[in-house]
Parts: sequence; structure tokens; C-alpha cells
Amino acid sequence: MPETEKTLLGESSAIETLRSEIASAAATHAKVMVLGETGVGKEVVSRLIHAASDRRRAPFLAVNCSGIPETLLESELFGHVRGSFTGAYKDKPGLVRLAHRGTLFLDELGEMSLRMQAVLLRFAESGEVQPIGGDGPVERVDVRLITATNRDLATLVQEGTFRQDLYYRLNVIRIDVPPLRERERDAILLLTHFMRQASQSHGFQSPTLTPAAAEAVVRYPWPGNVRELKNIAERIVVRQRGASVTVEDLPSEIRGFGAAAPGPTPLLRAVETADKPAVPRSSPANEVASRLMARIQSGEDFWTAVYQPFKSHDLTRADVMALLDVGLRQTRGSYRGLLPLFNMDPADYKRFLAFLYQHDCNLPVFQYRIAQLPTPARAEAAS
Ligand SMILES: Nc1ncnc2c1ncn2[C@@H]1O[C@H](COP(=O)(O)OP(=O)(O)OP(=O)(O)O)[C@@H](O)[C@H]1O
Ligand SMILES: [Mg+2]
Repeated sequence: MPETEKTLLGESSAIETLRSEIASAAATHAKVMVLGETGVGKEVVSRLIHAASDRRRAPFLAVNCSGIPETLLESELFGHVRGSFTGAYKDKPGLVRLAHRGTLFLDELGEMSLRMQAVLLRFAESGEVQPIGGDGPVERVDVRLITATNRDLATLVQEGTFRQDLYYRLNVIRIDVPPLRERERDAILLLTHFMRQASQSHGFQSPTLTPAAAEAVVRYPWPGNVRELKNIAERIVVRQRGASVTVEDLPSEIRGFGAAAPGPTPLLRAVETADKPAVPRSSPANEVASRLMARIQSGEDFWTAVYQPFKSHDLTRADVMALLDVGLRQTRGSYRGLLPLFNMDPADYKRFLAFLYQHDCNLPVFQYRIAQLPTPARAEAAS
């Protein structure tokens, strides 16, 4: 079994929601169905539910339902008695019994045969087990079932390849794990984490991404999700050995995906062209902006000096706009240039733009750019 993380990494709102779903699920004993694309972290989520539940001292046992023949799967789950079939040399208890008072995780549920589904349904309804070939009294076990699949089970039910009664029985709490491409800046955060981890195990210094490489990572749709990203992190670490990672150093699938469109991104365009007046230079907000600039110059970053006080209503929109005005004058209208100026990481670019756009704090850059054009062009541009 590949190594599974014990924590759920990520800062996106999608991951925050997932964390609270895990906590709610952990507070009950109800069956959970975890859905999501391949490699998104369904097993991580399932392990965390177990670890946060009052079953944590009992085992969490995982079984992959795909790729093993039906009879083997049945004996793996429910055990067998010696001699019940060729190769059954000794009694086997089965994972269901071994997971007593704990959690049994059934992965790739959508691949289970109809006959095995019937066997599982019986167990899910009664909690009773009888090993293959056993004729003694049935045993009752206390096992929480968590199931996972990347298949669309509702469609499989319609097609008749998945039992509807089993689907309803198992789908009590449903948790959808969103794909990585929908998790804001998490791809960068996870890539950095896994590069650091792989660097430590290989004894190299951890490489850093150039801003353009970071943008390519965010743009790439990650069809194999976190698993793909983890493998790529390791590949990069081994190849780069601590050097910085440019776009050219990225694997071809990432490098080649939707290469940077010429000109500003849609978000940047929306930020830049918002129809707003410039900030009057002598407003009270301007004094606040000077104070904020001083805090930033003494080492605080935008998120601490501006974002947090804004969120807690200690700063107004006008204050933020006044600070932007100061910054854009220095960067001559470059929003990207504000990142180093305001002590932000290059990878914060999208988050920064999204913040400005969302709170309507952005300023059009035209005026800052024409201020640096030679005089005839300025006249032309302004006409
Ligand atoms: N949010 C996360 N934080 C840290 N590691 C993660 C996260 N999500 C996934 N991983 C890691 O990514 C890999 C794939 O995760 P996991 O096995 O849970 O995916 P899965 O959804 O079960 O995939 P599959 O559909 O192929 O079974 C694992 O190594 C896991 O540790
Ligand atoms: Mg899995």
C-alpha cells in the first residue's frame, strides 16, 4: 500500500469544507461513502474519519475491491474455514472480524461484482458474518463501513450493474472530495510540500518554483490529482537537485498545457479595467496607506498587514485602494510587481487578484501606465 498522508494538506475553501465534513462524520457511526476522481485523497479522508472517531484505538483496515477475483475477495473480507476450497489450508478470520470495533474501508466499490454486492448487502444490513465453508452460528461484529469509488454509482445503478438497495444502504453520509484543479492555490502548496518531503528523503536541498513555473502548475488541470502531483514532485526533486524550477524544467504535460496566453489573464483584465476613479491623494485613507506601507516596509506581508485587518473590519475598502494607489505608482501599473513590494510570495498572485476583485478594491492601471509613456504617445493614448 502506498504511503498515505496523515493530515489533509491544503488551504482552499474546498479543503476547509472537507475538514468539517470529516469532523461531522467522525462524530457518528454512520456509514460513509467517499466520492471523487482518482488520486484526490479519498483514502486519506477515510483514514482521517477513523482517526478522529471513537473507534481510533481499533483497527482501520482497507481492501481494494477491484482486480481481485470474487471468491478471494469474499474470503479476504469474511474469512474461510480450512478445507472449504482448494488452497484454504487453514482457517482465516477475514478482515471484517479483524476490524471489530474499528473501521473497514472498501475502496473501488464500483468494481464489485453483483454477487459480492449481495454478500456485502447482507453484512451491511445485519452486521453478521459467517466464514466461507463455516456452519457454526453466525457472529455479529461491530464494524463501521466506509466505501469509496471514482465511478458514478447513480449511473451504474441505472445501468443495472450496481444494486440500488446497497447504494442506499452505504450512502448514509456522502463526502465528495473535489478535484485538485478546483482547490484554488492548493496545487502549489502541495507541490512545495511534497518537493520538500522528497528532498529530505533524498538528502537534497528543496528546489523552488519560478513565478512562471508556479503559474503553469496552477493552470494545469491535474487529471491524476494529488497522486500525480506527488509523483511529479519527486521527479522534479531528483532532476533539479535543489536548483530553481523554471517552466522548461516542468514535465512536458504541464509545460505544454495551455501555454500562457499573451496579455493579461481574464482575472487580471477584470482587475485592471474596473471602472473606478483614482483615489484622491489627500484623503484620510491616504494616511492609513502610509502607515500600512511603513508596516510592510518593516517586514510584514500584505496578508498580515492588510488582508487580516480588512477581514476583521479594521480597514476599509478605501484604505486598501489607497495602499494600492501607492503601490501601483511605484510599480507603474504592474499588479504582479506589487507582490514583492508587499512582501508576498509569487504564488500568491491569483489569490491577491481574487481578493481585490471580490471586494471591488482594484484600480484600473491605465493612468499609472501612461504616466511613464513618452509625451506624444501619452497624448495619443489619452485621446
Ligand atoms: N489533501 C492531501 N494532503 C496530503 N496528501 C494527500 C492529500 N490528498 C491526497 N494525498 C496523497 O495523494 C495520494 C493519493 O491519495 P489517496 O490514495 O487517498 O487517493 P484516492 O482518492 O483514494 O485515489 P484512488 O481513486 O486512485 O483510489 C496518497 O499518497 C495521499 O497520501
Ligand atoms: Mg484509493
